[in-house]
Amino acid sequence: MAEPNTVPPAAVHSDALVFFGATGDLAYKKIFPALQAMIKRGSLDVPVIGVAKAGWNLDQLKARAQDSLEKHGGVDAEAWKKLSSLLRYVDGDYSDKATFVEVRKQLGGAQHPAHYLAIPPSLFETVIEQLVNSGSARGARMIVEKPFGHDLASAKELNRILLSAFPESSIFRIDHYLAKGPVHNMVSFRFSNAFLEPLWHRDYIESMQITMSENFGVQGRGSFYDQTGAIRDVVQNHIFQVMCNIAMECPARRDSEAVRDEKVKVLRAIPPIESCNLLRGQFEGYQSEKGVAAGSTVETFAALQLEIKSWRWDGVPFYIRAGKNLPATCTEVVAKLRKPPQTYMTDPAPGNYMRFRISPEMTIALAVSVSKQDENGLRSLVELEACRHPEPDEMEAYERVLTDAMAGDATLFARQDYVEEAWRIVDPVLKANTAVYPYAPQTWGPAGAPEPLQKNVTPPGGWHPISDDTDSYHVVPPDTSR
Ligand code: BG6
Repeated sequence: MAEPNTVPPAAVHSDALVFFGATGDLAYKKIFPALQAMIKRGSLDVPVIGVAKAGWNLDQLKARAQDSLEKHGGVDAEAWKKLSSLLRYVDGDYSDKATFVEVRKQLGGAQHPAHYLAIPPSLFETVIEQLVNSGSARGARMIVEKPFGHDLASAKELNRILLSAFPESSIFRIDHYLAKGPVHNMVSFRFSNAFLEPLWHRDYIESMQITMSENFGVQGRGSFYDQTGAIRDVVQNHIFQVMCNIAMECPARRDSEAVRDEKVKVLRAIPPIESCNLLRGQFEGYQSEKGVAAGSTVETFAALQLEIKSWRWDGVPFYIRAGKNLPATCTEVVAKLRKPPQTYMTDPAPGNYMRFRISPEMTIALAVSVSKQDENGLRSLVELEACRHPEPDEMEAYERVLTDAMAGDATLFARQDYVEEAWRIVDPVLKANTAVYPYAPQTWGPAGAPEPLQKNVTPPGGWHPISDDTDSYHVVPPDTSR
């Protein structure tokens, strides 16, 4: 089905947005609010064509869009008026040629449309083929949503389908985590502060911890989640992206390829995760969720250890844990530094650490050891913490990714080689069918897993406690392992 594609030069702005899955959940929760925000900021002034098979007309789509805005941040009268004038709607089956004839008609004179597939990956091939055959793929950009496959083989197949019609430079694979300000900020913090670099490697760092915990369950997404599980849902994509930001070398240039090259280099240095370094858990009650199979062995919690065999990181264990129905909603990275030598002071010094909180608020904290005069001069760790709440007009992740994709800036999107490397790391362990241990809702994962496994997936000294405290100065609870 491949036909020569006229690639839009990176600087050319897409002159129309076509989004498939216009009546779906993602459009309702994220896309309409993002489109309104883009209009308010002045970055969207092209036709927006929704496509779906719902038996709807344009007025019904507009009503849905308005309802979406009311529920997600509110309607801005002026921006809504504009969005409403830009909206078009095509109702039809994705396998029906007539649907795409109509899309082409609605595109009018647009030369470089952006097609956004907010639909299940099983429909990608059909839609792409129809876009090619109807002449709507030429000169266009393609925006796709995660999951990018289910394992390494399916990810390769998905890439084959995408690349049969679009060059890699025109494909934008969304991982919305990358578009979060604090995730972005970790990179600028690392590469714009000279004091950090001398510490940021195996000589000073003892271990890295990354936690992505959510205090809610599967929120009605049982049938999706039961095909997915925590590793595929967030570890292989969101958490790996965060890990690459903390582990990569400074890109040689600011362009998207230089940044993405460095990320891929991190993944290439990671051997596949071994079964003895992965603990999978499932919260009690998960199997009663709608859409979840009885006897399901899908994990809602994963804790694992991996290593990055690079000059900078060899020998530093990276610990990752993620799960649903845990005690807090928080994403945080903790870099634990090695302990200083015990010479001048008589009590053992606690090791310093740096903490980056990505959500709910952005925090950067440095834990330093101080003497407490009131406690016989014994030392304890105190966090020096900088915390920032989002500005009212800060870009939400979906506004950011749609704006960047339409402008042709690929920095925040996953490249083909990155996606395949990420799957390579988890693929064997996903297929190993390791045991799944139950855990009580609102606890930090399975307490009953075998001791050697627990030890392999727990940082020395334990996980850094996730606190709700966002004061700018507080004392850290003592580390009992020392
Ligand atoms: C999604 C996952 O990609 O990311 C969800 O499918 C998860 O399970 C969500 O809850 C977390 O993202 P955010 O931006 O809501 O923290």
